[in-house]
Amino acid sequence: MKASRIHAFGGPDALTCEEVPTPVIGDHEVLVRNRAAGINPIDWKTCSGGGAAAFIGKLPFIPGWEFAGIIEMVGTKVESFAPGDEVFGFIRFPEAAGCYAEYVAAPVAQIARKPSSLSFSEAAGLGLAGLTAWQALHDKGQLQAGETVLVLAAAGGVGHLAVQLARAAGAEVIGSASATNHDYLRSLGCSRLIDYHTQDLATEVQGADLVIDGIGGEVGISALSCLKEGGRLVTLPSVTADAVIRAAEGEGKQALGIRVEPNGQQLAELARLCSDGQLKLTLAGEVPLENAREAHQQSAGGHVRGKLVLTI
Ligand SMILES: NC(=O)c1ccc[n+]([C@@H]2O[C@H](COP(=O)([O-])OP(=O)(O)OC[C@H]3O[C@@H](n4cnc5c(N)ncnc54)[C@H](OP(=O)(O)O)[C@@H]3O)[C@@H](O)[C@H]2O)c1
Repeated sequence: MKASRIHAFGGPDALTCEEVPTPVIGDHEVLVRNRAAGINPIDWKTCSGGGAAAFIGKLPFIPGWEFAGIIEMVGTKVESFAPGDEVFGFIRFPEAAGCYAEYVAAPVAQIARKPSSLSFSEAAGLGLAGLTAWQALHDKGQLQAGETVLVLAAAGGVGHLAVQLARAAGAEVIGSASATNHDYLRSLGCSRLIDYHTQDLATEVQGADLVIDGIGGEVGISALSCLKEGGRLVTLPSVTADAVIRAAEGEGKQALGIRVEPNGQQLAELARLCSDGQLKLTLAGEVPLENAREAHQQSAGGHVRGKLVLTI
């Protein structure tokens, strides 16, 4: 089968599209004829030797942790899915999952049925960012209806889903993004927008119950001032999480790190919200598998609106 992979850590040019063996499935896994794979910052961070590089084992490495496609074969213990089922998933993270490929071997506990209202590309972009948003808001952030949530990087992959999931949970949502994204984010449910280029978060926002920090570092630290007493901040970028948590401790505030976890039941809940029209995935672009380098370059530029996906 065809896959895009790296033989040495490096920038986007390290990716090369080549023939590799088709994966073999275990008893509790399915073999999926892949139609699309989502792109996330963790992909290019890992390819450059950071991110999840410590967990992926030996090179060569096929990036990608999320996909959508059609089941071609099921393992001997699989009862809940059958060949022909259309599914999507976020799998094996942080170990290698190999989703930039024509076939993916996926554990059944980490996949869900693709809603018919979503294209394969839309479903492929939903898993990692959607579960991050869900787990940050609910599992870590303990969001309650009526609370105010500030989402930093609101127009990004995680952010645009977090805005909608927070609205669906009955929260009021403030987003931070470039001014060109403000109308878009209002249409997703933000009641207030901050332009981080011209406005200071700490001055503009006070009394937030929860901050979803998609930027980290100094930006995450300054967002601690936006919290009301007893508020919570969930910081997404792992590399700066310790610094944000330490700063919060110094200020007597609560900040938490996160590592998104595969979860088939939560994926099914995201699928239900998509079917109900409460959650929409914005496609920033669909890039052929052979051009994965371009997709990594675009993602690393830091201004993707919604999700980029590879089509296969
Ligand atoms: N710990 C975990 O389990 C986990 C899981 C998922 C993601 N993450 C991390 O979380 C971060 C966000 O992920 P993502 O997939 O959402 O990234 P993304 O899609 O690449 O984010 C792009 C967005 O960032 C916005 N942005 C850039 N600088 C900003 C700033 N200073 N303030 C506000 N917005 C800014 C851009 O908005 P404008 O174009 O409007 O400027 C753009 O829409 C990444 O570092 C990722 O690695 C961690």
